[in-house]
Amino acid sequence: VKHTRCDKVQCIVTIDGPAGAGKSTVARRLAELLGFDFLDTGAMYRCVTLAALRNGIAPEDQDAVLAVAKGLEITLQGLRVHMNGEDVSEAIRTPEVSRAIGSIADNQPVRALLTSLQHQCAEDRRVVTEGRDQGTVAFPNAPCKIFLIASREERARRRVEELMAKNIRVGYEEILAQQDQRDAEDARRPLGALRKAEDAEEVCTDGMSLDEVVERLKQIVIRKIGTHMPSIHSESRQSKQITPSN
Ligand code: DC
Repeated sequence: VKHTRCDKVQCIVTIDGPAGAGKSTVARRLAELLGFDFLDTGAMYRCVTLAALRNGIAPEDQDAVLAVAKGLEITLQGLRVHMNGEDVSEAIRTPEVSRAIGSIADNQPVRALLTSLQHQCAEDRRVVTEGRDQGTVAFPNAPCKIFLIASREERARRRVEELMAKNIRVGYEEILAQQDQRDAEDARRPLGALRKAEDAEEVCTDGMSLDEVVERLKQIVIRKIGTHMPSIHSESRQSKQITPSN
């Protein structure tokens, strides 16, 4: 058994997985529970997309998009996202941005730029970071990696519920079809394609409540790096979950 050192730089929990597996909510809650910062890397791609659209740049124009991205100052503070000082938390989540984001996420120089921004954000911090490539590309040495999945039916069902809560009525079959299409596109992506890191722990959230998922993830964090985290050390001892391993 090799103990994972958890100095500040190494205290990184990565959560990757397909769209609709509940990553953001879970990652946010887990970060809160652990007293870690939460890094929403999808928000960074959304900011670049929004900036490109506002500047009238075609998302496929790789050089122009990169130039715009280089001029952005993106800050993530809790739930709020700021771009060049403006709160864009809502503006980055419009369907227009979601539609255009694919080409931006396929832009390798932009990915490299955002990956280095992610490194800066995580420096000297304890973070739960969420995205598609966090355990594979951004933080391959993270001591705790989670791959969060759910069946296609469960993901579609949750999406329908989410939309209903916003008073948007869409049929289950329609959502399922859209999701299948997006999954197929995601799998075909040449860059940043979703891939489970070899040392990631896969958690399927089917049939689990949000609280149950967060608790399960907390136990994984404790098992992987808990002995070196003062804030949850005593609790982990009580629950006898301590088996630090790599
Ligand atoms: O998680 P999200 O829906 O906010 O992500 C928005 C888009 O950004 C999604 O199409 C995938 C892409 N993305 C990525 O390619 N790499 C990441 N680390 C995070 C998001």
